Amino acid sequence: METRFKSIGIAGSGFYVPKKVLTNFDLEKIVDTTDNWIRTRTGVRERRIADDNEATSDLAVKAARKALEDARISPQEINLIIVATLSPDYLFPSTACLVQDKLGIKDAWAFDIEAACSAFIYALSVAEAFIKSDTCKTALVIGAEVFSRIVNWKDRNTCVLMGDGAGAVVLREVENGKGILSTHLGADGSRAHLLKQPAGGSRLPATEETVRQGLHYFKMQGNEVFKLAVRIMSESVITALKKGSLSNKDIDLIIPHQANIRILNAMAKKLSLPMEKFMVNLDKYGNTTAASIPIALDEASKQGRIKEGDIVVLVAFGAGLTWGATVIRW
Ligand code: UT7
Repeated sequence: METRFKSIGIAGSGFYVPKKVLTNFDLEKIVDTTDNWIRTRTGVRERRIADDNEATSDLAVKAARKALEDARISPQEINLIIVATLSPDYLFPSTACLVQDKLGIKDAWAFDIEAACSAFIYALSVAEAFIKSDTCKTALVIGAEVFSRIVNWKDRNTCVLMGDGAGAVVLREVENGKGILSTHLGADGSRAHLLKQPAGGSRLPATEETVRQGLHYFKMQGNEVFKLAVRIMSESVITALKKGSLSNKDIDLIIPHQANIRILNAMAKKLSLPMEKFMVNLDKYGNTTAASIPIALDEASKQGRIKEGDIVVLVAFGAGLTWGATVIRW
């Protein structure tokens, strides 16, 4: 059988965020916090919150339609759908199957990936491998979250950080030399306790008692996670660049997971890069978990911040722990 080197890249992108805006001033009325604390400690000014009747697949479909339009392809050209999420509509069936049905796609297989805030990078890498191996031709990769449903709105340590949204890309073969050049992925389960949703799984099924204790809400040891995020995301960028025989001097734009502006400032220092090389939109959307990178990617592309031939690095870090970086020639 003839083997041919294939370049796999992003043929189109799109994002969707719910209409409802929750500002820091709105949060001042809910918990003991201030706009000043949230802005200076995180960089977030406002975030979007899904309507009561909106679930993750609804946001995912809206982002996906935009990505399909941007790539100028019909839904029927999609053979693989991956949804990166940790706030799926249901534990099963997968959100990807619900998306498939809503888009009316007949001839595709579909599944979710759960790797928290790194899930979009993981999903991109999995889809790339399937296309490279001729298992499929065109993939729809979506990061989508309605994280607000697992946030404790009485806990100021966490509720000010998060937002809802979805971003999507169409991945397929592109012109040789363009597209994904290299990827670095990692995980460290020994630090699983740092970010978790304690109840609702097989370890601690949901009961009246777990709900009473608020164990179905997301918990995080923020300080510890902060330090690890800076170090590991910076190392991940360098490792992925090295794999592609590039260095930090080659970077035109970094599109990082949007968790905290202070994490991005510290990364810029570590990587000796000016902040202008970082795409930042966390002020408008907060941390949208697996959706944050595809949302930022689409915004950067539509704002004209990425030119043909540019080296773009996506980098994420999150619960698991998980992390990953992908280097793309646009
Ligand atoms: O997406 C996955 C990856 N996640 C992340 O990367 C998040 C990483 N962590 C962070 O971004 C930061 O650690 C946080 C934003 C979560 C917290 O910032 P921090 O600078 O690490 O604050 P802290 O937790 O050390 O808290 C400092 C103080 C505490 O008060 P005391 O004990 O010093 O009196 C907190 O109680 O700030 C207090 N505090 C708040 N005050 C007003 C915590 N949250 C708030 C709040 N408003 N919302």
